[in-house]
Amino acid sequence: MEKFIIHGGEPLAGEVTIGGAKNHALKLFAASVLFEDPITIQNVPLIEDIFRMKELLEGLGAKITKTGQNDFCIDSSGIFRTDLDREITKRFRASVVLVGPLLARFGRVSLPHPGGCVFGERPIDLFIAGFEQMGAQFKEKDDCYVFEADNLRGADFTFRIPSVTVTETLMLAAVLTEGKVTLRNAACEPEIEALAHYLNSAGAKIRGAGTQTIVIEGLGKHARLKSNKPSQIIPDRIEAGSFLILGSLLATDLRIKKCRPEHLASLIVHLEAAGVNVEVGSDWMGVCRPETFTSLDLKTREYPGFPTDLQAPFSVFLTQTKGKSQVFETVFDGRLEYMIDLKRMGAEITICDPHRAIILGPTPLHGREMESPDLRAGLAFVIAALVAKGRSTIHNVYQIDRGYERIEEKLKQINANIKRVD
Ligand code: EPU
Repeated sequence: MEKFIIHGGEPLAGEVTIGGAKNHALKLFAASVLFEDPITIQNVPLIEDIFRMKELLEGLGAKITKTGQNDFCIDSSGIFRTDLDREITKRFRASVVLVGPLLARFGRVSLPHPGGCVFGERPIDLFIAGFEQMGAQFKEKDDCYVFEADNLRGADFTFRIPSVTVTETLMLAAVLTEGKVTLRNAACEPEIEALAHYLNSAGAKIRGAGTQTIVIEGLGKHARLKSNKPSQIIPDRIEAGSFLILGSLLATDLRIKKCRPEHLASLIVHLEAAGVNVEVGSDWMGVCRPETFTSLDLKTREYPGFPTDLQAPFSVFLTQTKGKSQVFETVFDGRLEYMIDLKRMGAEITICDPHRAIILGPTPLHGREMESPDLRAGLAFVIAALVAKGRSTIHNVYQIDRGYERIEEKLKQINANIKRVD
């Protein structure tokens, strides 16, 4: 098991380049099932969740070739099975997105409960409700979920809670239904819009992706999409946001390149309200640490609100602001547990319940030994360790590698004292 050794407290400076978005690339890999020909995906981050998705698709019969440093060619035309590998599916949540295109094309899919970061229960009731409205049958057999449908049909589905992966999964399935599927109160994340954009360029008929109402005119079970150009993964807004938070805390001058600042508007206004000056260009951001920070309250929300995936890094930031801040995590249960380790590093935090915490700052942090509980909290520990005085060890780096490509190399480039140790 690899670990990071970090010596913190040093100022950072320089440039960092943002990679492709995990949560866009994973969905495009799944979308390949809808195509009659191989698709080329460019700017794919080389991260563990992508490697797991690749293994999962290959196990079903897809052929995947790495055609460039961050480019992959996926030929899913030869898929011959639709039972997702148990061990791989349990390792990352996005595996569940395969249910949509596989069910639409083959009429049957089975899988165990999908894994990924463990915060709260992470149920699949919305997948079941959506597919049942589209005419599928659902049952549980031998510890697996089974979805079956000879032909998926048109439906008008309203989300009880907007869900990112359910929106994407139903949208992918709807491309091959008979009739029209309307998704209301859908999630609006930029990765969903980017996915729909590529599907449309290949013959799908999707309107409204990126808004709360998405309408898909199904092409029918036997239709296939035809790729006529490579797909380009959009920049990872969570990676860019994490560097922006890190730069606000420690940089004398940090430039974050190849990002989409418009996808981070909510984070930027929060940082500005705390006293940070963020320079914004068309595809870059610049930041440096201000003299003082002011505390402020944080409430996570679906896009375009403050992303839950930046809640942990931002909470580290709040330990360094002056005064009292309240953190209200509204998207997931149990996504505040990492704060116990921040307290051990010296942060003054009261965890009120599974959704709310109060942070009093500023408090000096000191280095410690910790275990990365999930990928975003793992990165928050890296940020905390860089802020802290002294040496920290972060175990279970696999969790961080699930979502960030060569993070220690990017950090070293901006002067961070971090080492990966086997
Ligand atoms: N929910 C249900 N029933 C369902 C599905 C979801 O109640 O059937 C609930 C969830 O428990 C949660 C809420 O709906 O309370 C919203 O969760 P959502 O379904 O949107 O999350 P997700 O699709 O499982 C994706 C990202 C997460 C990101 C969330 C929120 C992927 C693969 N994962 O998860 O990313 O936190 O949206 O933006 O796209 C990460 O990258 O580290 C990560 C966890």
